[in-house]
Amino acid sequence: MRFGAEIVRHAEVTSTNNIVATYAARGAAEGLVVVADAQTAGRGRLGRAWHSPPGSGLYVSVLLRPQAKVVPLLTLAGGVGICEAVRESTGLAAIIKWPNDLLAPEGRRKLAGILVEGSSTGARVDYAVFGFGLNVRGGAYPPEIRDRATSLEEELGRAIDGDAVLELCLSALERRYRDLEEGRAASVLARWSELAPGARGARIEWVRGQAVVRGVSAGIDATGALLAQTEQGIERIVSGEVTWCFSR
Ligand code: BTN
Repeated sequence: MRFGAEIVRHAEVTSTNNIVATYAARGAAEGLVVVADAQTAGRGRLGRAWHSPPGSGLYVSVLLRPQAKVVPLLTLAGGVGICEAVRESTGLAAIIKWPNDLLAPEGRRKLAGILVEGSSTGARVDYAVFGFGLNVRGGAYPPEIRDRATSLEEELGRAIDGDAVLELCLSALERRYRDLEEGRAASVLARWSELAPGARGARIEWVRGQAVVRGVSAGIDATGALLAQTEQGIERIVSGEVTWCFSR
């Protein structure tokens, strides 16, 4: 089934990822899409909440039934798809921040985030849920994200048709997902690197255990891990939060 051939729309849900997981457990086919106008318990990475007020953004989840080998790259491939779709549908030169953030072109304010969740039995993947939230128009952001969040309309200074952006997001996601499934991961990673200028040569810091470690970003490897040059050599960062250090 093509992504979005079946779109289930809700005014309000807890989390679109939850709804898709329920459909998945009942045997729904890959490509089912759930879209909500608002989420009461939208969630992001690292246990954070995803601010999801009505009428402000796209809150979308897609049911995937991927091969196990592509799962580690789903977040990156989806980020490429969303970034390409935003660029194509709005002309905004959005960029990617490892691993899953879509940022405004200035590289600080976040437009969108991706949360991939799933279920497996042994080595077999039962399903994955690819969820993304994209800020279409500015709202009253909570204080903790106010200076780090933005929206398409705030960046572009004009009204944006969310449904048109959604349509392109779904087709770009599908294209990049098929790339992974059909053995073209290298081209997805190459495109990811083009869209993520901070992934090479930028000063970054991250937390390892109790310590804050500093280094210079050195690209990603074939598994999607971020590489960093430190005084001790190259380090692989596989999860967690990485901060890009801007000169002030
Ligand atoms: C992040 O940047 O931390 C990821 C945010 C992902 C938010 C989306 S909104 C649709 C889907 N449903 C959720 O509960 N989360 C994702």
